[in-house]
Amino acid sequence: MKKKIKNILNKKRKSRIVSLTAYSKNIAEILDKYCDIVLVGDSMANVLYGHKDTHKITLQNIIQHTLSVKKGIKKSLLVVDMPKGSYSNKRLALKNARKIMNLTRCDAVKIESNNKNFSIIYELVKAKIPVMGHIGYTPQFQKKFKIQGDSINAINKLLKEALTIEKAGAFSIVLECLTPKASKLITNNLKIPTIGIGSSSNCDGQILVTDDMLGMSGFYPKFVKKYALLNRIIEKAVKKYTREVKLKKFPATKNFLNGRKY
Ligand code: KIV
Repeated sequence: MKKKIKNILNKKRKSRIVSLTAYSKNIAEILDKYCDIVLVGDSMANVLYGHKDTHKITLQNIIQHTLSVKKGIKKSLLVVDMPKGSYSNKRLALKNARKIMNLTRCDAVKIESNNKNFSIIYELVKAKIPVMGHIGYTPQFQKKFKIQGDSINAINKLLKEALTIEKAGAFSIVLECLTPKASKLITNNLKIPTIGIGSSSNCDGQILVTDDMLGMSGFYPKFVKKYALLNRIIEKAVKKYTREVKLKKFPATKNFLNGRKY
């Protein structure tokens, strides 16, 4: 097993796992200093491309953005989302996961569970491709955003799904929008770490979409804490630039290029 994956597994019940999403080098470079896991998420569909769901993101989109992110990563575990439709059967999943791993040199792929595709995880792991699972609200398979695990029945179903994913060989699992009760039971019963998003502090680690926590995406459900209001900072800078260009205050003499100096 690769050292980076081992390090993530070793954190279970010892220290919290810090994860965020990245779609380009500049952000990845900052995240890499602090995060254990950086995810190139298919949330880029909403955040970057303005789609209403994640379904239109292609393998090519994911590979292109991962190539950029990879340039900013030195130490974090780089996980890449497999887009909808790219792992719908074993042969396709293997072909596409290999393509992502070989072209980007990332560390692992993530696939969303539809409570049926466990053998896909098994197949990839058998081929030495580390896999992160994803249960609860899974945007590739569920249309409506809904809290998951709000009855005993639903919690037991989620636990069974998580245990099957673990048995198939996944090294960790994202729990999206689970009730605190569900995430606690699953985290306590799994040997692999759980990474929560909107699933309380009962998980072994947390992940957020970086653009959401920076206040840039316009999508702020209750589970998102805005750690900055970057949209306001950017707007202020653009406004100042606009004013200075119009007033001919920019470029000032010090911004002129003299001779061959760059
Ligand atoms: O696509 C994504 O960013 C994700 C996270 C929300 C876990 O899957």
